[in-house]
Amino acid sequence: MLQYFKALNEALQRANFALPTLIVDKARLDVNLAQVKHMLSPKVNSRLVVKSLGSIELLKYIAKQLNCSRFMVFHLPHIPPVLDTFPQANILLGKPMPIKAVQSFYAKNEQRLKAPIQWLIDSIERLHQYLELAKVLNSKLLINIEIDVGLHRGGIQDLIQFRELLNLIQDHPKHLQFSGLMGYDAHVGKIPKILQSTEKTFELSQAQYKKYIKCLANEYQMFNQADLCFNGAGSPTFSLHTKRSICNDISFGSMLLKPADFDLPTLVDFQPTIWIATPVLKKLPTTQIPGLALLEKAPTHKNAVFVYGGYWMANYVYPKGAKTNALYGRSSNQELVNVPKSSDIKIDDFVFLQPTQSEAVISQFEQIWLYSGKTFTPWETFRA
Ligand SMILES: Cc1ncc(COP(=O)(O)O)c(C=O)c1O
Repeated sequence: MLQYFKALNEALQRANFALPTLIVDKARLDVNLAQVKHMLSPKVNSRLVVKSLGSIELLKYIAKQLNCSRFMVFHLPHIPPVLDTFPQANILLGKPMPIKAVQSFYAKNEQRLKAPIQWLIDSIERLHQYLELAKVLNSKLLINIEIDVGLHRGGIQDLIQFRELLNLIQDHPKHLQFSGLMGYDAHVGKIPKILQSTEKTFELSQAQYKKYIKCLANEYQMFNQADLCFNGAGSPTFSLHTKRSICNDISFGSMLLKPADFDLPTLVDFQPTIWIATPVLKKLPTTQIPGLALLEKAPTHKNAVFVYGGYWMANYVYPKGAKTNALYGRSSNQELVNVPKSSDIKIDDFVFLQPTQSEAVISQFEQIWLYSGKTFTPWETFRA
């Protein structure tokens, strides 16, 4: 990767970049998209996780490549731009929204009442709130039920709650329409292997999911299963779902950019694609710790550089061996980074970081710069 970052540093300087810059490498993104196409059966629908991709242009590029018009949304202001960009979009909320937020969303966006937005419901109390809102709006809301398949982040936990929700939906066909289930299984793969294998944890979570589908088939034939969205996965379990899954709708986002938190055994076939590049402002022969005379004179084996900005949710990846200094501390303004004395990095060169997650980092930048090997194209993020 050293040659890669050297070339990227030169390309950025040739193009006169001089501020912290968020970069997505197009060639690497294309490899990840090809990998998804290779792994995913055409029978399963893909759903792009909007928060993890953070830019309409990026979503447009990916949606086109994957022929996908399904989106998972976690923040209500993201819904209008997604619907405007993708008129065929089907939206599934990734978390239950407070009723007042939904009320104010429809007050501002009355025309969106016709759009297929599946609202996520995790309890009977919340379903009653949505029913009351649907009556006030004189409309019908799509209801997707969050089920707990082992993550224990909320969602219903048993068939008693499930039947209670379905019965209420069934009793109000004018205002509520059942649209499917959402069972997120991010815990699979995080359980120490010594306690339980990933395959076993996945099997157990799928068995939980199956329990609800079976109940639907046996007791609620009025809901046509072919029309329902059985959503699951997320990047950490994507590859498991491509082998065998009860779900017909698979969400993913982060793995296409593969920030450092997604360096997982289940995602070995994906490549890191997103970097922060930031210029060196100053270079010092040694790290001087303010106020500590003893340490000020201590010889160090590393140079210290100060970079533009810092303290992002990201790891320094270039120059090799670059590290923040725990004694000196972090800074969002100009961060001290220790680099090996052997590094030839100089003022105005770029250092590179790999975000640990895409969701928080993308929203700190106004643009993603799509790097094609030669050119940089700006894509606005949701922040712009
Ligand atoms: C409900 C749900 N599904 C899927 C995802 C997966 O998103 P990603 O693929 O970006 O990890 C998340 C992430 O927070 C989620 O909460």
